[in-house]
Amino acid sequence: MPTDGLSHPTGRLRVRSAFAAAVVIVVAAGVAAAGDDTTRTSSIFAPVSAPADSAYTAAMLVLAITAVIGVIVGGLLAYAVIAFRSRRDDDDSEPAQVYGSDQIELAWTVIPILVVVVLCLVTARTIYDVQGATAPPGALKVTVVGHQWWWELRYPDLGIVTANELHVPVSDPAHPTPTFLALESADVAHSFWVPRLAGKTDVIPNRHNRMWIDPREPGLFLGQCAEYCGTQHAHMLLRVYVHSRADFDRWVAAQRPPAASDGTVAAGRQVFETTACINCHTVRGTVATGRFGPDLTHLMSRDTLVASSVRMTRESLQAWIANPDQVKPGSLMPAMQLDQAELDQLVSYLATLH
Ligand code: CUA
Repeated sequence: MPTDGLSHPTGRLRVRSAFAAAVVIVVAAGVAAAGDDTTRTSSIFAPVSAPADSAYTAAMLVLAITAVIGVIVGGLLAYAVIAFRSRRDDDDSEPAQVYGSDQIELAWTVIPILVVVVLCLVTARTIYDVQGATAPPGALKVTVVGHQWWWELRYPDLGIVTANELHVPVSDPAHPTPTFLALESADVAHSFWVPRLAGKTDVIPNRHNRMWIDPREPGLFLGQCAEYCGTQHAHMLLRVYVHSRADFDRWVAAQRPPAASDGTVAAGRQVFETTACINCHTVRGTVATGRFGPDLTHLMSRDTLVASSVRMTRESLQAWIANPDQVKPGSLMPAMQLDQAELDQLVSYLATLH
């Protein structure tokens, strides 16, 4: 009977259940971090917007063609390996050598060229269809600015500025109301990607890129930065809320006014307005007009904090402000070294910014 725990059956069981427990813990941690959102698919195989449909159609054609090539090449390889394997009665002579077969050389030159030309034409046509679209009257315009590590979202025609959570109206194919995005970067190269709505578009400093989406279903669609942009690239998440027209109009109406003014949190507002917070953050209706960090005018209307990596709660807000580097190592937000009373007052003030 072996005494080594790994080879003993119950030992193996123990290792396996420890592994299962670890997987459960990791998955549970992920679910806790993201709430019920982990059940949402971000697959390119479930498109709900025309640019994503185009990419899906092109991708399926490419997959089909390459699958056929894979089956043919793999089949021929398997046949050759099995049919021409070494046998005991083999003599040491060379097999028959084939030289200068015009038919074979033409076939393995012309067929791949044709395949590549077809794939190029399909890709070029897809890119042209997506990039050539022009904004119809009634299209929503949003400027997306990539920052290390969060998304600034500006609605120039509506006077709204928010962060990380993009709200757009649903686009009925009969009466399209697409959203056209202007993409800019405040620092390094990022990439805007919400797989179910459109392909990736890079967000490059000193360059104005554009893309558009016309989601035909209401709902929440998840995305993230798709270009390595520094230590917290993986926590540069995106949430796109697609609303019915009435819900979108309600969201706009709630976002347009300046920040609520609540006398009961005057002490916290005082803390906010007399620390360096105001150098980086804007709260419309106050002296805070900074542009380096997210606009906080309607902070509490957002579901998440820290570029959508943490649920918006009083506790997470407090932990974030107390020590940003612990929540998001490398974060460019400094710890303000507030004492506990100031921190409580500040969080109470921020909690009124609905
Ligand atoms: Cu921004 Cu990766």
